[in-house]
Amino acid sequence: MKTIHIIAGVRPNFVKAAALYHAFKDEDWVIPIIVHTGQHYDINMSDTFFRDLEIPDPHICLNVNGGTHSEQVGNIMVAYERALMKNPPDMVAVVGDANSIMACAVTAKKVGIALAHIEAGLRSRDLTMPEEINRIITDSISDFCFVTEKSGVSNLTQEGKVDNVFLVGNVMVDTLFRQLPKLNGNNASKPFAIATLHRPANVDNETSFKDIWGALVEISQDMPIIFPVHPRTKVNMSTWDVSIVDTIELTPPKPYMDFLGLWKDAALAITDSGGLQEETTALKVPCFTVRENTERPITIDEGTNTLVGTTKKSILDAYENFKNNGPKNGIIPKLWDGKAAVRIASIIKGLI
Ligand code: UD1
Repeated sequence: MKTIHIIAGVRPNFVKAAALYHAFKDEDWVIPIIVHTGQHYDINMSDTFFRDLEIPDPHICLNVNGGTHSEQVGNIMVAYERALMKNPPDMVAVVGDANSIMACAVTAKKVGIALAHIEAGLRSRDLTMPEEINRIITDSISDFCFVTEKSGVSNLTQEGKVDNVFLVGNVMVDTLFRQLPKLNGNNASKPFAIATLHRPANVDNETSFKDIWGALVEISQDMPIIFPVHPRTKVNMSTWDVSIVDTIELTPPKPYMDFLGLWKDAALAITDSGGLQEETTALKVPCFTVRENTERPITIDEGTNTLVGTTKKSILDAYENFKNNGPKNGIIPKLWDGKAAVRIASIIKGLI
């Protein structure tokens, strides 16, 4: 019997790790072991996801949380190396682009364990994003790259990575399609928008945040907004003088199923999240991405996503266009069919 570590540290990792866990647990040749680095530790950012997604509590907890990026990465590497020395698996699978993922990837590779990167090849070409650094490092040392969209394959090819690159689809969409039928009714009666913001570039700088917030306040006069507030954003909002309006409902971060129950019925999602860009494309919900670039171009080329920039004016222009011309139509990208993790499991079976 083989063993495989599935690494998760932050909220979107749990969603993707769940798809892998469910695919591997049904196989008779492998035991999946969930490793939680501890990067996200609030109940609403971590534990509720394990319950909602029907995955067991992590088998290995590294309990590293807080600190600067370098402290996070360094502490995770030290803790994970200890765990690997004690009980090395046959393969380490890392999902996504968070600090936890890069830290565990480097550690596994240094210890000499086969490394698979799921969601490989995405590039924003924006090195001010910590995730872009993590993506480039992780891909460059991975033995096996599993890719969600065709841009990922061409990015890896350009970087000289051609062997063991597999276009398999999107494990985040696997979880979405698995969980969707389990929702109870409760459809919204009036149009509303859902908003989430947590990227440092948008929420760590007072002027930038207030400009975006100004756009949200104006949009909310026309369409009410529900805004679950990420811990990073909450701390910053509480230190600045942000005008609170009753047309924007502020809530704590929501568990997976509660959040899905909301955004699936939204008339519009306004976000800087990576995952929500993909999820909204999968359910054909219009999405405004509050960034200047995206590493997920298929959500724009084929899906319902629009890059709206990060200024009040650019966001309001996009909203005016949305109101005048109606929502953007999209198609569901190839292989985003709920079976990506099963494909990954069958490829890995042939590899180890
Ligand atoms: C991280 C990931 C990002 C991902 C996001 C999803 C990196 C570089 N960034 O960003 O790619 O999109 O997760 O949410 O890895 N905090 C809490 N409670 C928690 C989690 C965080 O209070 O449960 C606090 C932290 O202590 C920190 C801040 O929120 O002060 C930011 O957390 P951190 O994990 O560093 O980065 P995120 O912004 O969440």
